[in-house]
Amino acid sequence: MIDTKGSVVAVNGNMVSVRFDGAVSMNEVGYVKVADQRLKSEVIRIRGDVSQLQVFEITKGISIGDEVEFSGDMLAVELGPGLLGQVYDGLQNPLPQLAEKAGYFLERGVYLEPLSDQTEWAFTPVAKVGDSLERADTLGTVPEGSFLHRIMVPFNLYGSYTVASIKDAGSYKVKDTIAELKDEKGTIIPVKMSFTWPVKRPVDCFEERLMPKDPMVTRVRLIDTFFPVARGGTYCIPGPFGAGKTVLQQITSRFADVDIVIVAACGERAGEVVETLKEFPELIDERTGRSLMERTIIICNTSSMPVAAREASVYTAVTLAEYYRQMGLNVLLLADSTSRWAQAMREMSGRLEEIPGEEAFPAYLESTIASFYERAGIVKLRDGSVGSVTIGGTVSPAGGNFEEPVTQATLKVVGAFHGLSRERSDARKFPAIHPLDSWSKYKGIISEEKVGYAHAFMRRGIEVEQMMKVVGEEGTSLEDYIIYLKGELIDSVYFQQNSFDAVDAAVKPERQIYTFDKLLHILASEFKFPDKNEARIWFNRLRQRFLDYNGSAWQDERFNTLEKEIEEAVKAQSQGIDRNAEKILAATRG
Ligand SMILES: Nc1ncnc2c1ncn2[C@@H]1O[C@H](COP(=O)(O)OP(=O)(O)OP(=O)(O)O)[C@@H](O)[C@H]1O
Ligand SMILES: [Mg+2]
Repeated sequence: MIDTKGSVVAVNGNMVSVRFDGAVSMNEVGYVKVADQRLKSEVIRIRGDVSQLQVFEITKGISIGDEVEFSGDMLAVELGPGLLGQVYDGLQNPLPQLAEKAGYFLERGVYLEPLSDQTEWAFTPVAKVGDSLERADTLGTVPEGSFLHRIMVPFNLYGSYTVASIKDAGSYKVKDTIAELKDEKGTIIPVKMSFTWPVKRPVDCFEERLMPKDPMVTRVRLIDTFFPVARGGTYCIPGPFGAGKTVLQQITSRFADVDIVIVAACGERAGEVVETLKEFPELIDERTGRSLMERTIIICNTSSMPVAAREASVYTAVTLAEYYRQMGLNVLLLADSTSRWAQAMREMSGRLEEIPGEEAFPAYLESTIASFYERAGIVKLRDGSVGSVTIGGTVSPAGGNFEEPVTQATLKVVGAFHGLSRERSDARKFPAIHPLDSWSKYKGIISEEKVGYAHAFMRRGIEVEQMMKVVGEEGTSLEDYIIYLKGELIDSVYFQQNSFDAVDAAVKPERQIYTFDKLLHILASEFKFPDKNEARIWFNRLRQRFLDYNGSAWQDERFNTLEKEIEEAVKAQSQGIDRNAEKILAATRG
């Protein structure tokens, strides 16, 4: 490798211009040398013999003439066993170890190995000498947490190889040579348990992309029933400050029906990240009874870190997600918040003096966001197994205005949109997903007819509510008032979910399907009341019972008692069933 060197000719915030001698390529990593520190940077533009680099550290002290070393390598992550349970910064530095080494006020220019070179892994070979393999084919496995981690042919070994040697079952470290592969020219390539892959290049070692169709259950009723997310699909959660984006993502990271969760916390506030770091290791995964952290990776940046580091963290996160997908696992990537990443892009674009687009975001904002979400997907691997990466990103538009460029660019590419509403979060109606503004293109756990029927009540209920604001309750007919009360009922017993209640916080799909049918039956019942006051009192009582029902353990004694009470109350008050709903309800019983 030829070592290209250069020297700083200009510094502009955390972008430096470097005149170089030799060859430099886009996204290559360079190190700016300041005193005895080497600051990691990435090439983001090349013009003749001058390149622009974004520096992933605070650029204080860099001056013209400072030396820059180009590494010849793209910005990359290290892939191998030991990633699960880690907390990394955007450049894959393990944060706890970094804090130990450099103190809590992180020193710049300190980079650590992402994977411990001391840990021993119990390797079991799968491939045999003489086997013909391609990239991403399995050489062997090691247990990692509750998964069998595939040790694969490095993804950058294009072409086909013959296994020349492979280690016997035993304990090895990530940097030990685990196998030797012979390429078509007869050259022997030693392979270790870990290898690197450039973060900005999608991992593409699969046979084919499949259509995302099965729901990824989150146990949030409003999502699973009304605005579902598919395995391998994409969704976004835009919401104003404090509307509950982070809490919603935390609930999802605990309960989503996936194998591995990767959280890219490029948060607004340092405190938010600290919360995540403190809370996560204490959470228990109910599937395994072990720490949730064992199947989680956290990539973490606060707003006090340079913007470039925030950009790197989303790419690092998605690359790790793709890596585990290659093992036939279902991975969920949660990015919070993508607006911070977009701001990083805007800042850098400004420094590059590019022609700005809307709200000074670069013109390529849309295509960059699109190509990030395109890395989600459900894929069939070469061995026939299926893996998926689902991506959910929050967006924090200033003032909660969804017309701004980042929200707009995101909703063009995602399959589901969970828009949080200020009004609902102020009223403490959580999750504050707006039932009218939100949408999903995916199939959920309940048939579209049923969901549509319930949704119509919600819509009409809101219409009546708006009307009542104008004409007053007296000016509203009893019939309309009952529609309004039914809308209120769905909202309070189904849309809203108490995330601090042990039972109600996360509802399994079978329970959602079951209680939704109960609710549909109430909606379809035609009630007669002497006046609005009676109607309101009756619905209030019903709502309270239903909330208690939601809070009781699935099909225990209390649950069954409350259910009977609800059914009897409805039966006593009902004059019959809405004729249009009969068919939909019949499907319920069938
Ligand atoms: N599902 C929920 N149940 C109960 N309370 C909630 C829920 N979601 C949010 N909250 C309340 O709202 C507060 C703010 O939520 P959160 O931090 O998730 O908002 P955010 O949209 O991420 O804000 P920011 O834009 O500042 O990142 C929480 O501290 C909590 O008190
Ligand atoms: Mg937040």
